[in-house]
Amino acid sequence: MKLPSRLLAVISVAAIVASACSSNAATTAPSTAPSSAAGGICTMQAGATPIEAVSWWTTGGESSGFNAIINKFNCDNPTFFVTNSAIAGGAGSVAQAALQNRVLAGTPPDTFQVHMGHELLDTYVTPGYMDNLDDLFTANNWTTQFPKGVLDIVSAKGTDGATHYYSVPLDIHRANVLWFNKTVFTANNLTAPTTWAEFFTVADALKAKGITPLAVGDNGIWANGMLLEDVLLAQLGADKFKGLWTGSTDWASADVTTALTTYAKVLTYVNTDHSSLSWDQAADYLIPASAGAQPKAAMTIMGDWAAGEFDNKKFTDYGYAAAPGGTGIYQALADSFGLPTKAAHKDGVKKFLTLLGSAAGQDIFNPYKGSVPANTMAGNPPADAKQYSTYQKWAMGEWKGDTIVPSMEHGAAAAPSWKGAIETAVTSFVATPDVPTLQTALVAACKDAKVCK
Ligand code: BGC
Repeated sequence: MKLPSRLLAVISVAAIVASACSSNAATTAPSTAPSSAAGGICTMQAGATPIEAVSWWTTGGESSGFNAIINKFNCDNPTFFVTNSAIAGGAGSVAQAALQNRVLAGTPPDTFQVHMGHELLDTYVTPGYMDNLDDLFTANNWTTQFPKGVLDIVSAKGTDGATHYYSVPLDIHRANVLWFNKTVFTANNLTAPTTWAEFFTVADALKAKGITPLAVGDNGIWANGMLLEDVLLAQLGADKFKGLWTGSTDWASADVTTALTTYAKVLTYVNTDHSSLSWDQAADYLIPASAGAQPKAAMTIMGDWAAGEFDNKKFTDYGYAAAPGGTGIYQALADSFGLPTKAAHKDGVKKFLTLLGSAAGQDIFNPYKGSVPANTMAGNPPADAKQYSTYQKWAMGEWKGDTIVPSMEHGAAAAPSWKGAIETAVTSFVATPDVPTLQTALVAACKDAKVCK
């Protein structure tokens, strides 16, 4: 597979289930036998060991996928019972701080969602908070089943000089995707814009018809930071974009100024209530309130967890394309789970992680989530199980053929503190869009991260 090495080249340089079943089920009285029959929700058995898994998967597509794989585990392993202690806040905007506090306090959950790359390595692995999972990787042949680029950003060299694996990748998401309402586009003779110049033409046509062009939900500022990444990627291209995170592309350059000017213009086409919406509420603006009604917006730009959101809402009238300027470039990120050194129930966690990493497990979770599986052996769910969507089949092809670049907002490209500094600058910019001020702050953030001189 050609992608692994490319993902490695890109990202490593930079380095780098619950509803009824979990949270509800955790309070459910233990039953005497798991209802493991097809589709049944298995409840906690008397004497079962509880395994606490923390994620930020609270929206329909997110929690359905995690609930499904947790339920599979609970049905197959009645002596353990996994619960999903999900903390709301897209992209982990709330969960990550809570997780760090728990890990620091020595009371981590048994396992938790963490992005591969800098978020995992800088925050948890380097300071020594995670056990290595070498035995699982060897026993399950994962070193041959996950792409090399993925393996490289869930691993680190130990003091013994050997490479050790620290988390199990569950999915691969694409961050730079444009979603649009197909009926609105067809009715207005529009096609998905492939450049930001085309975006402005399409957006002007929509505006002239009284339709909000672009839905944004940045009550977590990360969603707006993703837009910034999209325009930087379009302006700079894959290589120079990667260079932003390694110090070889100058944040003070004219290219970056042009991108920031484009970014300022993009923000003039968004919904006025963006700061009060979450990412999924913004995505829902593409869904008409009733058949034939005008949706609140025609487009949104969001990672492909939006596909999971649309599918969960049974909304099929959506089109998709790479975000403007991102054709052929897959901005990647991945969710993974590891084993905190101070986890209380390590045996159960290892069993659970074994399912998360397996092809069968990934084919339970990913069809709900909008992502593609990280395990290259996955991609063929059983006929009676939920299948991958049309979008996901397209994404699987793109993932194999595109140039891969890392996502800053989702933990792959930059250290968490650097991401935080960028988000502070973006927050100010959204309130008062001044390009020189933003650029000065971005230049300083790179220096503070000790990546730029
Ligand atoms: C995660 C996705 C999640 C999205 C929105 C991203 O950071 O990687 O799994 O669906 O945030 O919550």
